[in-house]
Amino acid sequence: MTTPPHLLLVDDDERLRKAAVKVLTAEGYQVTGAALGAEALERLTDPDLALVISDLRLPDLDGLALLKKARELLPDVEVVMITGHGSVEQAVEAMRCGAYDFIQKPLDSAALLKTVSKALEKQRLLSENRRLRRQLNQRRGVEALLGDSPAMQSVKALIRQIAPTEVNVLIQGESGTGKEVAADALHSLSDRRQRPLVKISCAAIPETLLESELFGHERGAFTGAAAAKPGKFELAEGGTLLLDEIAEMSPQLQAKLLRVLQDGRFQRLGGTREIQGNVRLLCATHADLPNAIAAGTFRHDLYYRINTVQLVLPPLRERRDDIGLLAGNFLGRFAASMGKPVCAIAPHAMEQLLAHTWPGNVRELEHVIQRAVALVEGGTITSFGFAPEVPGGGVGHGPGLSDHAGISIPLGTTLDDAMQRLVQATVDRCAGNKLKAARLLGIAPRTMYRHFSNPEK
Ligand SMILES: Nc1ncnc2c1ncn2[C@@H]1O[C@H](COP(=O)(O)OP(=O)(O)OP(=O)(O)O)[C@@H](O)[C@H]1O
Ligand SMILES: [Mg+2]
Repeated sequence: MTTPPHLLLVDDDERLRKAAVKVLTAEGYQVTGAALGAEALERLTDPDLALVISDLRLPDLDGLALLKKARELLPDVEVVMITGHGSVEQAVEAMRCGAYDFIQKPLDSAALLKTVSKALEKQRLLSENRRLRRQLNQRRGVEALLGDSPAMQSVKALIRQIAPTEVNVLIQGESGTGKEVAADALHSLSDRRQRPLVKISCAAIPETLLESELFGHERGAFTGAAAAKPGKFELAEGGTLLLDEIAEMSPQLQAKLLRVLQDGRFQRLGGTREIQGNVRLLCATHADLPNAIAAGTFRHDLYYRINTVQLVLPPLRERRDDIGLLAGNFLGRFAASMGKPVCAIAPHAMEQLLAHTWPGNVRELEHVIQRAVALVEGGTITSFGFAPEVPGGGVGHGPGLSDHAGISIPLGTTLDDAMQRLVQATVDRCAGNKLKAARLLGIAPRTMYRHFSNPEK
């Protein structure tokens, strides 16, 4: 450690405080003394503070309250309590609340130094541990996005470059290419990673509700608004907001979003208070927004606002080098979670994977491997089954659902349940692509999303 650890010694007994500060300073620690709890609380903003040594009884504050505040504000800090004679019960209570140890009055210099040194050692190990875990999380941020092909390497390099900045990013790519995984990586590599990443799908929420979901509402703002509710912009305060399926947003709401992005301020529905937001915006879509602008369904001024940097995820068929790596990874993951000893893909089966066009991209590959692992007997997968392609999928329009594909619904099933099952089966058949499934069912995407219990994904 290059700088000596910062210590805070809190006791209203001036003689004791001065003596203890002297002993600790002589040992090389950087010590600040405080006589009152209020003074001590002010010192809790020091990010280098490693240890608080405090009297359990302070004139203006309960020592336990100081202990709790210190642990809350500085998770890496340790606390040692100083107790008078006969306050063992309180000392035990302090340890239950997270104090490292306690020392009894009158203070003995050798005992003080020994306890401080042990507390600092624990503090050093714990904070080092947290630092390493943070680093690991950051690395995981991009590593969750599997793929070593040159195309994926450039995607990852761009993510690393733009994540720590504040720019709005438009994430584009066909369905199943990993747009949400990329959004997770952008957030976890940013300085906002300790704050929330809030996601909302503009296709999943009925248009009439989307505005209040985004900006919140006050009580009584509309029929059914029994209580006030913060919107996603408020929930993401200090963090990141992912607006997924942004192309599905209505023109009215696009206009409103544009105004919010211009001055960073918004109001809850039915409210009068202006809220100044601090949110980094990520938008994702599989749609071709320039086309949508030409067709008049997407505002070009909003497009320029959300698109400071564009991150394009390549379709799987354009990076076939990644298929083996992805397949191997999914195989390991599903074999472990299903408790099956599957460990290999036969060469012929691997050729099948390499020859497939992957209209559902990585999500489809994930489903194909999952199904194969569930069905295989023995340690090797010898062939894969692919769901027939579905028309209107953007790429590789196939022959449509096979005549034999279907679900059986026993009489007595409620209409709601039957619809739910049909929607689920169609989504499964579309390799999880809900928009494609909605097209096939002939319903608007948001109508279909309503059939899913968690509309926000
Ligand atoms: N590069 C990748 N490495 C590992 N897993 C991936 C990768 N890309 C996608 N996946 C997995 O594929 C599935 C689909 O990814 P994701 O939800 O991010 O796709 P998407 O582009 O947002 O699709 P949609 O447009 O349909 O919402 C997820 O289970 C995700 O974990
Ligand atoms: Mg997505």
